Amino acid sequence: MKNNYSILTGITPSGSGEVHIGNYLGAVVPFLELQKKADKVYFFIADLHALTTVQNKEEMQRNVENLVLSYLAFGIDTEKVVFYRQSDIPQHTELQSILNNVTPLSLIKRAHAYKDKLQKGADPEEINMGLFSYPVLMAADILLYDPDYVPVGDDQKQHIEITRDIAGFFNKTFGEIFILPDIYNMKESARLVGTYVKRKMSKSLHNYIAVFADEKVIRKQVMSCFTDPNRKKVTDPGQVEGNPVFTYHRLLNDNKEEVADLEKRYTEGSVADVEVKEKLLQAILLKFKKERELYNELKEHPDKIKNILKEGAEKARTQAVKKMIEVREKIGITNKYSQFTY
Ligand code: ADP
Ligand code: TRP
Repeated sequence: MKNNYSILTGITPSGSGEVHIGNYLGAVVPFLELQKKADKVYFFIADLHALTTVQNKEEMQRNVENLVLSYLAFGIDTEKVVFYRQSDIPQHTELQSILNNVTPLSLIKRAHAYKDKLQKGADPEEINMGLFSYPVLMAADILLYDPDYVPVGDDQKQHIEITRDIAGFFNKTFGEIFILPDIYNMKESARLVGTYVKRKMSKSLHNYIAVFADEKVIRKQVMSCFTDPNRKKVTDPGQVEGNPVFTYHRLLNDNKEEVADLEKRYTEGSVADVEVKEKLLQAILLKFKKERELYNELKEHPDKIKNILKEGAEKARTQAVKKMIEVREKIGITNKYSQFTY
């Protein structure tokens, strides 16, 4: 691992763009740590990637707004992090178009996103080109900025391998200009279990607890959590291990004495589920009090957000343009008649 390094990562505004406590523990907390360690950080909202599945104007707008507000409320250091929207930098799609020409079809056919769709029974003739070419856009996202490392979860690692391959093909064909990025190995935290479907917490399964939703909504999500299915009455001794409500208490309730007390009473059968849940709700609201306030405050000031994204886009564009001028030179689009400027 290098001493001074830059990182780049993106997040796709699919689903509802809401952030749940699983995302918080598995993605937001590691990101906040990482932004302290790295020297330079590029972080963007991959709205063009979301277009493969989000094909509704209001939904797209809502998802992007939710994500931008959420990450700012969690405390992205915008002094250090270049925070922008992918679609604000047209060089991403320009480079994608160019990279398409050095990308073998066979490489893309092996990509997970495409193969998963086929496995789920999709007709290969019906899959949209956006999904098919998803890894090429991702390669463009990365290669424009020369990052040393790309921190991604396991499901995205193959895409970084593909990026390295594409960069290699380009360099070999036109000359060395792209740096092959390394995967930043994130300590994979265990997947947080969902509230009532016994799978990982996920927006698509609707088994989540949102961080920034109205208190009423969060209350409903907490109250619908699974507990020990064998416990019929308050006086029955209950199981704490593998009980999602206690999993959440342990991870998010900063009052450790309260957690220990609830666990003890639950195990001996002297506390009602509803009390455990009510305390969980209060613990979550307290844990995210500052962030929830900031979220609501930012939501009232769209101009402030617009300015943050404008500054991020300007910084990102400076780097992207620099790289694209080199690419244009290398591929010979720039010639003695050229007058094009960005
Ligand atoms: P969802 O499945 O709810 O749509 P995403 O796929 O958008 O969530 O996940 C965004 C990030 O949050 C990913 O980096 C992933 O690692 C993390 N994440 C998602 N669900 C969980 C979970 N249940 N536990 C821990 N981390 C999670
Ligand atoms: N595809 C990534 C995901 O869904 C998001 C993403 C898009 C990304 N472009 C990227 C991540 C470039 C890292 C680098 O999680």
